[in-house]
Amino acid sequence: MKIVAVSGAAGNIGYNVLGRLADGYVYGDEPIELRLLEVPQAVQALDGVIMELVDHASPRIANIVATDDPEVAFDGAHAALLIGSAPRKDGMTRVDLLEVNAGIFATQGRVLGQVAHPDCKVVVTGNPANTNALVAAHHAEKEGFNPANITALTRLDHNRLIGQVAQRARVSAGEIAQVAVWGNHSNTQFPDLTFATVSGTPALDVIDKDTWLDTIVPTVATRGGAVIKARGGSSVVSASSATLDHLRDWEQGTDGRWVSMAVPTQALPEEARYGVPAGVVYSYPVTIENGIYTVVPQLELTDLQRERITASANELLDERSTAAGKGHLD
Ligand code: LMR
Repeated sequence: MKIVAVSGAAGNIGYNVLGRLADGYVYGDEPIELRLLEVPQAVQALDGVIMELVDHASPRIANIVATDDPEVAFDGAHAALLIGSAPRKDGMTRVDLLEVNAGIFATQGRVLGQVAHPDCKVVVTGNPANTNALVAAHHAEKEGFNPANITALTRLDHNRLIGQVAQRARVSAGEIAQVAVWGNHSNTQFPDLTFATVSGTPALDVIDKDTWLDTIVPTVATRGGAVIKARGGSSVVSASSATLDHLRDWEQGTDGRWVSMAVPTQALPEEARYGVPAGVVYSYPVTIENGIYTVVPQLELTDLQRERITASANELLDERSTAAGKGHLD
């Protein structure tokens, strides 16, 4: 049986994630115990979520525990989806949330380090996801937890990039391979088509370079804000789906497929960092086998790629300084 903790379980993304976990999206028919973590103000809404999970009558749900105590939620957990956080509103950047959200991730990182299963796979979805994950990894590591297991969500950007290419090439998303998202889940990310293929053909033979750089890159990098403006709230279906894609592939492997994951650079060998300094949580193309992710090795990078990779790394260093200045990285 797997123990899966979900923070923000009564929020929109959490609610969506739970239904799909109950449907076996990540663990197939293996039974799961759900640990639903919420803030005390959301405990009533959480009651309603539990009623619905009971009514779902999934044979895969072995037990449901609802709590506002991270120690209860994370005790022995094999996976933790850290979704709960204040969402951004129209006109804000994700880093504007650092002040209000980083403290949550400091506590959760410490408690994960103290009580979670040593191989617990942690996915941070709450924004600013990379730096929240950095804060969580810092505090978890102090408790002896492997920081490599604390990752942030850029699969949403990866899936958005696939969607943009599929739409333009008029093929199904399954025909697109080897896209990569480098960097921060922010406007400086680099959605990269250099190595991508569409039905086996180089993507940049199908889509011209200017369309990629002038239209697709900014569309993907600012998509979250565009959804907020259009919907009046941040993305839910795509964010929950990407969170589960991230965990499913980490658990089940990618069979050589590239996916994008933001991972703590201090846990990577130097040659796998592609010039990004140690001490940030940075998105790379990775493959996954037996629960271990590996950054795609030995890619020959162009000057353009290096420039974009460095720009996003510099932004993450700035975010790290802000988090440290506010005392979240003591
Ligand atoms: C997204 O990219 O949709 C989420 O990170 C929410 C946001 O604030 O953009």
